[in-house]
Amino acid sequence: MSLRVLLTENQIQTRIKELGAQIDADYPAGALHLVCILKGAYVFLADLARAIQRETFVEFMGISSYGKGKSSSGEVKVTKDLDNSVEGANVLIVEDIVDSGVTLSYLMHVLHQRRPRSVRIAALLDKPERRLRPVEVSYVGFKIPDEFVVGYGLDYAEKYRNLRDVCVLDNGAGLREADTGPPPAGKNA
Ligand code: IMP
Ligand code: MG
Repeated sequence: MSLRVLLTENQIQTRIKELGAQIDADYPAGALHLVCILKGAYVFLADLARAIQRETFVEFMGISSYGKGKSSSGEVKVTKDLDNSVEGANVLIVEDIVDSGVTLSYLMHVLHQRRPRSVRIAALLDKPERRLRPVEVSYVGFKIPDEFVVGYGLDYAEKYRNLRDVCVLDNGAGLREADTGPPPAGKNA
């Protein structure tokens, strides 16, 4: 396995400042409730929250997609729910990456049932080529090609989350083949 830098720490930080400014400009006055999707989005959340000037509240949600290795099966489940109600709130889901769109389309459905004032999505990365379910992502950091990436919160088998850059994880044999390898049990996206 080898790592190749796709997005540098500098590129990521510059883009997040732009996203924060755009979010501040788009929303009417008032607080914003950030819902961080564990585990992959924890690093993005920390930087995005600090790039937003208005009052924010932070909530965490655990989602598990049971799939093999590097792709999700389409079966999604909430493993950790919100601690506080978001009824009447402006909610911004903070996600690391949109791949098939299965996780986020499920999550939008779940959060709409909590009767927030609004729900939008901010994702650091988007792999549009892989989409199976349509999802509207209001704030995208970077569109990336169909390659498996790690770092800046994203993992492979729980490794590499602490890398400062986003890197492509290459195994030299073609990543889809690697999907048949042993998956991390009950992947925490
Ligand atoms: P989706 O439901 O297929 O859109 O996948 C969503 C989740 O799969 C993301 O939140 C990630 O946790 C994980 N995922 C998708 N692509 C990658 C990747 O390239 N690297 C690491 N995790 C990924
Ligand atoms: Mg995730």
